[in-house]
Amino acid sequence: MVNSNGTAVGSGQPGSWKVPTRGDATFQWDYDSHDEQVLRLYAQGKERQWNAAGELDWEHELDPDNPLGIPDEFVPIAGTRLWERLPETERVAVRRHTQAWAYSQTLHGEQFALVGLGRLCSAMDDVDAKLFAATQMMDEARHVEGFNRLVTDKIGIRYPLCGPLRAMFEDALHHPDPDFFGIAGMVLENLALVMLTTHRSRLTDPLGRAFTEYVARDEARHIAFGRIYLRRRFSGLSTPELRQREEFALDCCRVLHQDFAADAVWHTLGFGREVAEAARTSVPEILHRRKVFRHVVPSLQDIGLFGPRMREGLEAMGLLRFARRPRFTDPGGPGQEGSPAADAIAHAETAARRQDIEAVARLGATAGDTA
Ligand SMILES: [Fe+2]
Ligand SMILES: [Fe+2]
Repeated sequence: MVNSNGTAVGSGQPGSWKVPTRGDATFQWDYDSHDEQVLRLYAQGKERQWNAAGELDWEHELDPDNPLGIPDEFVPIAGTRLWERLPETERVAVRRHTQAWAYSQTLHGEQFALVGLGRLCSAMDDVDAKLFAATQMMDEARHVEGFNRLVTDKIGIRYPLCGPLRAMFEDALHHPDPDFFGIAGMVLENLALVMLTTHRSRLTDPLGRAFTEYVARDEARHIAFGRIYLRRRFSGLSTPELRQREEFALDCCRVLHQDFAADAVWHTLGFGREVAEAARTSVPEILHRRKVFRHVVPSLQDIGLFGPRMREGLEAMGLLRFARRPRFTDPGGPGQEGSPAADAIAHAETAARRQDIEAVARLGATAGDTA
């Protein structure tokens, strides 16, 4: 449903959503032990603050036909017969709404990060980690501000939180142990980083390019911290505790692999169920999922959630091939999602993606630099 201002409305908008939370806050009297990796990230977090209101040109007018200037090859139904037949006026609506949907979900994800980090910061045992988490909270607040301006003020269409992400947020926040927020946050930050690093180079709109570049730098720092923090947390856990976290991480992977799709767009624009299905299995969507899991799967390895249950679950989804091997081998080879066209394009993009993957992996390993 779209209101008179062109803004999509639905249940939960406007309004609020209460998720009961439990857990302990931890005070730490050891101010003398320090973690140099985390302190370096904290220093970067302080130095690289930016002002979403002041450093971007919000007066810039977006193109009403393609607000962020996303090439049509990224439209979920690009390459289908429907897209070829669609009149330009309807293509414009699809471009506007698919961009609005993706950036709206990211906006909601940023609020999830802000809320969850508040809780995680309270629970953390280590003072240095609390300090970094405080800088990340400011980053996430800035991201909420920026995505909201982009979605609500500039594109003019805001979608509600989709069902699969809502369920993931609720499970993560409801769990008494904030590790579960940490896992969901890491998976979602990889999802966001893939979109941002793709868009910062491919958007033709200068505001969109600048904004995605700024946010991508912050997210790379967050992923680096998440890898250090979660790896340490999980290194001391028992096998049953690790198994529980692996199951939750697999649930998060299933959401992104099977459920996270812009069905609301096709419903809002009056397309049938078959279009929603075609969009889920289109070449652009298959490519996007592959890019996401090329980042998510190595992250799971890095934080130590890669036991037999995890490998079995990833294998069942056709995702185990994205695991990092002793020497980098081609993860874009013939896949299990069955699209020769997607395989060909994925192979061509592997070199560029490899650079991103390895840059983020180095961040996690050394915490000495950001993208
Ligand atoms: Fe963020
Ligand atoms: Fe983040």
